[in-house]
Amino acid sequence: MPQVKVGLIGFGTVGAGMVEVLINNRQLIEDRVGAEIVLKKIADLDIDSDRGVKIDTTFLTTDAMEIVNDPEIDIVVELMGGCDQAMEYILMAMEKGKHVVTANKALIAEYGKLLFEMAERYGVDIAFEASVAGGIPIIRVLKEGLAANQIKAVLAILNGTANYILTRMTGEGLSFDEALSIAKRLGYAEADPTLDIDGSDAAHKLTIVISLAFGFPFKYENVYKEGIDGVSPEDIRFAGEFGYCIKLLAIAREVDGDIEARVHPAFVPLDHILANVNEAYNAVYVEGDFTGPTLFYGLGAGRRPTGSAVVSDLIDIARNQVKGIARRVSPISFARPPAKELSLRPMDQIVTDYYFRFSAVDSPGVLSKISGILGANNISIASVIQKSRETHGSVPIVMLTHEAKESNVRKSLELIDKLGIVTEKTVLFRVEKKTGI
Ligand code: HSE
Repeated sequence: MPQVKVGLIGFGTVGAGMVEVLINNRQLIEDRVGAEIVLKKIADLDIDSDRGVKIDTTFLTTDAMEIVNDPEIDIVVELMGGCDQAMEYILMAMEKGKHVVTANKALIAEYGKLLFEMAERYGVDIAFEASVAGGIPIIRVLKEGLAANQIKAVLAILNGTANYILTRMTGEGLSFDEALSIAKRLGYAEADPTLDIDGSDAAHKLTIVISLAFGFPFKYENVYKEGIDGVSPEDIRFAGEFGYCIKLLAIAREVDGDIEARVHPAFVPLDHILANVNEAYNAVYVEGDFTGPTLFYGLGAGRRPTGSAVVSDLIDIARNQVKGIARRVSPISFARPPAKELSLRPMDQIVTDYYFRFSAVDSPGVLSKISGILGANNISIASVIQKSRETHGSVPIVMLTHEAKESNVRKSLELIDKLGIVTEKTVLFRVEKKTGI
């Protein structure tokens, strides 16, 4: 039986998950691949803590270079996270002709172009199924399953922590801070959950998805990004009254030859398939021109689902090895740059429905002043709720609009917020329409 030898750098949660899959499903994997995937070495600064998996402790080293320099190792798995050091190990491994598997979404999103060029130069594979949506095999879906399609739209819930927080806020009416502290207590949120909350984590994942869906290494800094820390229980309640919930969405859409790329909290109709994706679950809705709408749902994080994703990449590369080939599919699924490269649609040019919550004094003529400015900027109101007068003299006026251009919306809100009758900065959310499924 041929053997494919693997070295693992970074023995944390996902690394332990990968080892567990290789041990538990060893026979099944051998049968599927026709080769034995042999874990030869594991490098981590901590080689003493128990990870709950049985391994030969002579495999362990604190020196990752032992893996990079080991001529017997065919595949280096990078699960250490961070960018600089991880990049260094990956590039050295590639230079030595080793294939690379990584779960490092920040690295792929920010330095993917360079890494893919280097993989091509050295004739090795680089695989990163675990970098997006954990156990959901969305990378392979885009590279292979939907390869016959022009991708028209991707709408996704790609951050489990944010989705968990919004689920608790919606279900129990909790504040953002209360829901965040529960998420921390239960281990969903990291001690420093900044990247989950400010949308960066989802934007990294969306960058990778866009590169695969549209065939060019998309720039992370081109993803427009807003986090969930501005979502209030009040807006969640109003959303419910209008028949919506609020989700942190990662959106990529082809619109007239441009691509929209944005991560922000959005109103999602309650009968939209993504409205029912709750707790720490992820989901990716992809619309292909021939498939129509498709949906992929599952756990986006955690030792076992993410370990499964890493091992699926090992299996893929090991299968190539068995056939004596490499790079059967290019890392971003296009063998050459697509004939039709899309350009980025600037955020102020997007057209969507909006929700506004104005805070204004309750006196005659207020609504007409606000709607006058909206009308003058080509923004048409779809529905309005005004709540009764509150003790502090200010009332919320909430409204849904028909489709409007973001630049017109920004211009209007700037004017409205300067009106003497408006008491606080207006709150804005973008509103999604119901999709095909
Ligand atoms: N922190 C991520 C999340 C999981 O909450 O979804 C790892 O990508």
